[in-house]
Amino acid sequence: MANTILIGAQWGDEGKGKIIDVLTDGADVVVRTQGGNNAGHTVHIKGQKYILHLVPSGILRKKKICVIANGVVVDPLSLVEEIEGLSKLGINVDRNLFLSETAHLVFPYHRELDAQREIFKGKNKIGTTKRGIGPAYGDKAARTGLRVLDLVNPERFKKQLEFKIRENNEILKAFGAKPLSFKRVLEDYRAAGDYLKRFVANTVILLHQAVRRGDDILFEGAQGTFLDIDHGTYPFVTSSNTTAGGACTGSGIPPHRMDRVVGVMKAYTTRVGEGPLPTENAEIADMLHAMGREFGATTGRPRRCGWFDAVATRHACMVNGIDQLAVTNIDGLDSVETIKVCVSYRDGSKRYDYVPNDIEILSRCKPVYAEFAGWRAATHDARKWQDLPAKARSYLKALAELTGADLAIASVGPGREQTIFVS
Ligand code: IMP
Repeated sequence: MANTILIGAQWGDEGKGKIIDVLTDGADVVVRTQGGNNAGHTVHIKGQKYILHLVPSGILRKKKICVIANGVVVDPLSLVEEIEGLSKLGINVDRNLFLSETAHLVFPYHRELDAQREIFKGKNKIGTTKRGIGPAYGDKAARTGLRVLDLVNPERFKKQLEFKIRENNEILKAFGAKPLSFKRVLEDYRAAGDYLKRFVANTVILLHQAVRRGDDILFEGAQGTFLDIDHGTYPFVTSSNTTAGGACTGSGIPPHRMDRVVGVMKAYTTRVGEGPLPTENAEIADMLHAMGREFGATTGRPRRCGWFDAVATRHACMVNGIDQLAVTNIDGLDSVETIKVCVSYRDGSKRYDYVPNDIEILSRCKPVYAEFAGWRAATHDARKWQDLPAKARSYLKALAELTGADLAIASVGPGREQTIFVS
């Protein structure tokens, strides 16, 4: 399978969890390199639904090494809960889960600050997951964060935490929020540190050993291209590099060791949280919600929905160097009579064939659509390319052509078996 970076080519929630699970079959190592428990990767196996937030999706297959690498921000309490949850489902992670000692930690004051800043911003809020991700990455950039290696050094951790709680309680007070109890946080985090210490490793060394052995590594991207802190619709983004480059900095594996980039995208577009979404459309949103689809895996929020945006996916292809596409949720369009695809943006007399950086301009942009005849037939039982209705095949070919990469996978439902490999 070679070393593969898998990224979301839209605004997150592209169905990466399922595609990662499918590709994991051919991988030896699966690595999370950015984000935190803001992610929710959903995998369905034999009727059982698993939602993973921090643990790489590879954990659901036997004998895969799973790494939470340096670029991830880790809420230790949430990680313990997730590991315990997996263990209740009969999935033991003791031998194959590794946690980077240099991953930064998320604390209750990060979560509280995340919430307070959103309230303070009022109608300009980002619509974050309130998991403390932005403030945790903020501390990392400001060089005031605490890391996993601090958590497992109880004496040092106590001193560092005492300072951080004192500092952040001042900020929380200024927001009019309740200060945190140092004693309580210390107790909770010490317990989590005790629990997690068996997983802690120098994951850069571990991953390079895997590279030398010739292992195949899958880098599991979280969120999506347009939520990237540099390349997304700033400030309506998350706080990490969700694009392909983030897999290198977030793991310590250099770019020339990466063999391919797979971009996952839905056959239409969704977004949670605020910010521009040029192809947003109430009709398609109502239809998908009525089908019980498009509710967030982490927050349960209904996702905003729109037509496929080929301007955005072409842009994603460019900044990520996407070689292969995996198109998911094809079955979501099974009943649509005429399917629209945005092929460029129009702002007054100006046309854009790329995503403008200024979100005021992007928010004004009107999509220019091409229309495709819908296939009006159920696709969820298709297992081979030829099983798909001809109109669905034409639609998928057009998406690949407009995006500029090869179509490798077409997904017609959440199950592993509902996956078509396109040769
Ligand atoms: P944060 O990452 O919680 O700070 O949220 C920032 C923005 O990214 C918000 O619009 C969130 O809805 C969005 N976001 C964060 N994580 C995910 C995800 O895993 N899927 C989709 N959107 C996400």
